[in-house]
Amino acid sequence: MWWKNGVIYQIYPRSFMDSNGDGIGDLKGITQKLDYLNDGTPNSLGVDAIWISPFFKSPMKDFGYDISDYRDIDSMFGTIEDFKELLSEAHKRNIHIIIDMVLNHTSDQHPWFIESRLSRDNTKADWYIWHSGKNAKTGEDGEIIRGKRPNNWFAQFELKNAWWYDPDRKQFYLGTFTRHQPELNWRNQELREEMYDLARYWLDIGVDGFRLDVINWFIKDDQFRSNPYSLKSIDLQKHIYDRNRPETIEICRDLRKITDSYHERMMVGEVFTDNAELASEYCGDGTDALHMAFNFNFLFQPWRADKIYDSIIKWYDSLKGESWPNFTFSNHDNLRHSYRYRKGEDTTARCKVAAALLMTLRGTPFIYYGEELGMTGGRLRRKDMKDPLSYRTYPLKRFCRDMARTPMQWDSSANSGFSGVKPWLPVDSNFKSNNVSVQEADPDSLLNFYKKLIWLRKQSVPMQSGDIKFYQEYLPGVLVFQREAVNQTSNQKLIILLNFTESRVNINLSSHIRNDLKVLLGTHRSDEQICISDGLELNKYEVLIGLC
Ligand code: GLC
Ligand code: CA
Repeated sequence: MWWKNGVIYQIYPRSFMDSNGDGIGDLKGITQKLDYLNDGTPNSLGVDAIWISPFFKSPMKDFGYDISDYRDIDSMFGTIEDFKELLSEAHKRNIHIIIDMVLNHTSDQHPWFIESRLSRDNTKADWYIWHSGKNAKTGEDGEIIRGKRPNNWFAQFELKNAWWYDPDRKQFYLGTFTRHQPELNWRNQELREEMYDLARYWLDIGVDGFRLDVINWFIKDDQFRSNPYSLKSIDLQKHIYDRNRPETIEICRDLRKITDSYHERMMVGEVFTDNAELASEYCGDGTDALHMAFNFNFLFQPWRADKIYDSIIKWYDSLKGESWPNFTFSNHDNLRHSYRYRKGEDTTARCKVAAALLMTLRGTPFIYYGEELGMTGGRLRRKDMKDPLSYRTYPLKRFCRDMARTPMQWDSSANSGFSGVKPWLPVDSNFKSNNVSVQEADPDSLLNFYKKLIWLRKQSVPMQSGDIKFYQEYLPGVLVFQREAVNQTSNQKLIILLNFTESRVNINLSSHIRNDLKVLLGTHRSDEQICISDGLELNKYEVLIGLC
């Protein structure tokens, strides 16, 4: 199955390629760059699918994650014809397309919300989460006297209470991101059916899958209880009443039935947590709920092999039945890992270790655009910030999402070849030395290393689907593991060695392997036959993938 064997590449469409010179990336831009992603040869990256962040009609208060028409494309990104062309051009290159479905909330400009807020008895009155407030009263003249905010639920991007008063309807609506993203009421059956129709609409057009935005927020506590306090969370709340409610799994099951009634489609849900068990619950037994739930645990790990190892094992252990794993180091909501793991001149070497890990673990790898170049986002000033969260939390880098969203660095020409005009976010000032064309010309570049890894994976059954076994005794500085695929005709075993440290490390593999190791890909050796009986000395940050 493509989503299990393949590599998925996330595109933030505003920042990938601008085709019409307005400074903002668009769908035609993506179509122009499909050959970079996969032209069928190892000159290209070789990815099997792209997940494109939202490009639907939107007032862009949260840059597309606030949708005002789920069935139309925002004119900034193009037209439905542009999307269909992208889809067909991608399919010609065996690139699958996953679209981003933001079904927890709409924009406040969505016609449903415009109607819903008019009165308490219109046809969309119950499609959103409305509340009269605590201790609301009706006065003698029938006038409603406003109550207090219903509970302590928190708006993540506004950094204040998530209940917003609407003077016309005289009630509060819920918006736990910005006030411009009112939350839908998934307990309403009509709304549910509408959303299921929407899924069918895009599946009929031919998309290969959905990334489901904040799937674990869809259902809220029916008694609207306040979250308990917690010192562990940045907003000082333990989100037990506004997230991860048990009823959510029913929605995952319904959506699974719909997607599985089409040929080879998939869903991956965003469950933003460091808790592997919680995320894996959304996959059920692997056949009855989401096809995959993102495993974000690497986003929370420091650059330490032992921590990364624990994270991997926890994730594998938490998956039930036939659930399929996945791994990701970077996305559009977090600082890129090239930044998180930066270490001066060693940064690229670290990125190579991370890339090798991502491509050799058992599970689907997700790459975030620009990660193959080691893009970091550069320095942004407050006046450059576009994202409300980045702006409000400046200068705290930790919450800066804009740094992960700067324009793709294509070449050394003006604006890094991304656009003919000044882009919506500044290009990293290092673009002249770090871009696709510079890295393509350098055989040792990170980009060429990603290409080699992806193409090796494409030809390797053990890398795609083999069992995984760790040789734990080498912890903490290195990870050593094997991937093995056994079938009637062959028994292929790969050994992967990753040195996370800046020192040389001696490894004796004799208790695991008897024969020599043939190097398939590595940072310090290639095409060699290594005799390992006397031990093996790994260089600092060495990656070695061998066949035995
Ligand atoms: C998800 C998205 C994020 C967005 C939020 C609200 O977390 O990844 O970018 O702002 O949902 O839709
Ligand atoms: Ca454009």
